[in-house]
Amino acid sequence: EKGGYDHFMLKEIYDQPQSILDCLRGRLNPAAGTITMNGVDNHLNALINAQRIVMVACGTSWHAGLLAEYWIEDLCRIPVEVEYASEFRYRNPVINRGDVIVAISQSGETADTLVALENAKEKGAFIFGVVNAVGSSIARLSNAGAYTHAGPEIGVASTKAFTGQLAVLVMMALKIAYAKGTIDEKKYQHLLTELHDVPEKVSQILKDTSNIQAIAEKYKDATDFLYLGRGYNFPVALEGALKLKEISYIHAEGYPAAEMKHGPIALVDDKLPVVFVATKDKYYEKIVSNVQEIKARKGKVIAVATEGDEIIPGMADDVMFVPDADETMAPLLSVIPLQLLSYYIGIAKGLDVDKPRNLAKSVTVE
Ligand code: F6R
Repeated sequence: EKGGYDHFMLKEIYDQPQSILDCLRGRLNPAAGTITMNGVDNHLNALINAQRIVMVACGTSWHAGLLAEYWIEDLCRIPVEVEYASEFRYRNPVINRGDVIVAISQSGETADTLVALENAKEKGAFIFGVVNAVGSSIARLSNAGAYTHAGPEIGVASTKAFTGQLAVLVMMALKIAYAKGTIDEKKYQHLLTELHDVPEKVSQILKDTSNIQAIAEKYKDATDFLYLGRGYNFPVALEGALKLKEISYIHAEGYPAAEMKHGPIALVDDKLPVVFVATKDKYYEKIVSNVQEIKARKGKVIAVATEGDEIIPGMADDVMFVPDADETMAPLLSVIPLQLLSYYIGIAKGLDVDKPRNLAKSVTVE
């Protein structure tokens, strides 16, 4: 059932070219210039006219929500808030009729998310579910939704469910933007093609991971890691740090790269590995100077960089490459080496990567 892989986590990382394809199948059609999602099509007015969209989720799914904020604000010009379900449910949030709540959950059973949604629904919010487990509680409670179609995820750490969430959320953003007229035809077409190319690019990353295994060996005894990124790569840095904590029990923090100088830079010494998610995008020049700031303090830099880039690899101690892509789609690629890094560090430390201590696959208690 592990399909020849040593662990479910590794299998599920390798499932991603196929699971993303399954998510796009029947929906994305670049040749026709269309995205078909019944849950969105049937409620297009509610989504286009939303005054506000609130993402509600926990953990890795919350990171997907953060990316949706960047996508929807950028492409659709609708204000988005991203809420931890556990905080949202207890803090008496302002919810107005006509607000759209997007619930993101792999299992569809997370107690905090479920109760937060029940409360919001009572107050008249429209609930859109982005769920992996078909027929789950959150799927049933939602007014509309889109399944991620990632297939069963057995490893406790979420991997392919996360990229499925991203694929659904970016399609939603593109659909809403197109219907609203906030994206021009050329950019829309370009992004459909870019999204279509993602599964093939993920396959390329997975082809040879010997380099990532060597990096894992080299850094497995570190006690702390910092993960930094800007823009679309900031939520990826958070996700990379969470994966490392879960799988290797190494303390890790994710930060927006520019925020580092407001505190975390005090941690940097010649022992601290700093993972930069530094693919080619509009923040590239800025992130180059952030890497210099870390190197000037003798930190060890591990970079996720775009193939063909020579500047970041020239500065970093170690590099994990991803294929070139439009920055909008970059997170779907840049998260893959980070999943692999945490997996291989966990393995190098002899840990149970499929069932990390203290964690449960679905958190049905608050
Ligand atoms: C991280 C992880 C958790 C879940 C979180 C929400 O690898 O698996 O952080 O993402 O418990 O779970 P779902 O998405 O099932 O609501």
